[in-house]
Amino acid sequence: MLNFTHHIPTIVYFGKGQVSALEPELKKRAGKVLIVTGQGSVKKNGIFNHVIRQVKKADVPYVELSGIKPNPRLKSVYRGIEICKKESVDFILAVGGGSVIDASKAIASGVKYDGDVWDFFAGDVKPTDALPVGTVLTLAATGSEMNGNTVITKEDTMRKLAFGSPVIRPVFSILDPEYTYTVNKYHTAAGVVDIMVHVFEQYFSHTPASDVQDRIAEALLKVCVKYGPIVCEKLHDYDARANLLWTGSLALNDLIGQGKQEDWASHAIEHELSAIYDISHGAGLAIVSPNWMRYVLSRNTVHKFVEYGIKVWNIEKDRSEMDIANEAIHRTEKFFKSLGMPTTLKEVNISDEHFEKMAKSAIEDWGEIGSFKKLTEKDIVQILNASL
Ligand code: NZQ
Ligand code: ZN
Repeated sequence: MLNFTHHIPTIVYFGKGQVSALEPELKKRAGKVLIVTGQGSVKKNGIFNHVIRQVKKADVPYVELSGIKPNPRLKSVYRGIEICKKESVDFILAVGGGSVIDASKAIASGVKYDGDVWDFFAGDVKPTDALPVGTVLTLAATGSEMNGNTVITKEDTMRKLAFGSPVIRPVFSILDPEYTYTVNKYHTAAGVVDIMVHVFEQYFSHTPASDVQDRIAEALLKVCVKYGPIVCEKLHDYDARANLLWTGSLALNDLIGQGKQEDWASHAIEHELSAIYDISHGAGLAIVSPNWMRYVLSRNTVHKFVEYGIKVWNIEKDRSEMDIANEAIHRTEKFFKSLGMPTTLKEVNISDEHFEKMAKSAIEDWGEIGSFKKLTEKDIVQILNASL
């Protein structure tokens, strides 16, 4: 295990009716709030009304920014920064999924910076300050509610880039499983895939003796395997929603990646797909991740796939190592398919037209991508070709 500092300060209010925590939290922290929402789901399903009731109880003035798109765009971030400056906002409340939270975090950092907020994504500058962000999460997937990451697309160049900083980690997050009941089957399944691939990115590593992180990681994966099919069958299953919601937060809040070399190649490749084709992030991962697994499987990496196959998929130990590894990858892909996710690029109408460009861009953004197996531009093109 490598050295690490563990500091995850986000307060999580988890469970039914926890929106009531908003009133005291806002009273304590906010002078004027910007409430950020997506394309209308929270207004249709009543969550927005619950939030407004709390904001009014707290007696804190607010302004709104609605219409944040999935794969959020830089333009909406600029708009949010402008509103915050004009209205002297000192607190941002994100009500939505990862896209709304990511846009809110980017706005929060941009308000405190004199230059262009895109500088943070381009990697030119690191933010040193941000407005505090609180979240009311409505979709189990990204872990954005408990981490310091944001991912934004710059629409004129179609670059989708991320940055991470402790200054944008939410100060509190409200996680009510019932608030995720109205997420449709497709986005629910995409969320399950995203959670699982977050775990893979941290689990598939050469760092030795990280048993604590890895056993937690396997437990998180098993929860997805157990509850993914249940929730896709019955969208209002409280136990399934609750377990997936908490799993999503724990899968990407620094816990299981602490003290480990992480990979993140599947994400780097997927971000190229959703940047150009605007597909759901989880759907892109369902296509890329099993093909990444097949590509990186070798004598040098097989031990980790064996561990994964036996611990998560209960594959018989007496089979050969390569056999167990291939079976584990096959079951992963079959599982994604069973949830209704695409597992080929053809299913989402993507051809090989931009493969070279995407591979170049992925390398540019992340330097050398992957650590479990380092990938070059040529490797990325091969993984994309295998995903056709
Ligand atoms: O726009 P609205 O109306 O809110 O509808 C959304 C959207 O259409 C809908 N939705 C959300 N909650 C709902 C709901 N519909 C009904 N009932 C509810 N309760 O679901 C759709 C997808 O929402 P979105 O926020 O885009 O999904 P997700 O949470 O998966 O976020 C995806 C974005 O996060 C980035 C992805 O790249 C993508 O841009 N990621 C962020 C990460 C992070 N910050 O740590 C890490 C991830 O790896 C990922 O890259
Ligand atoms: Zn992801």
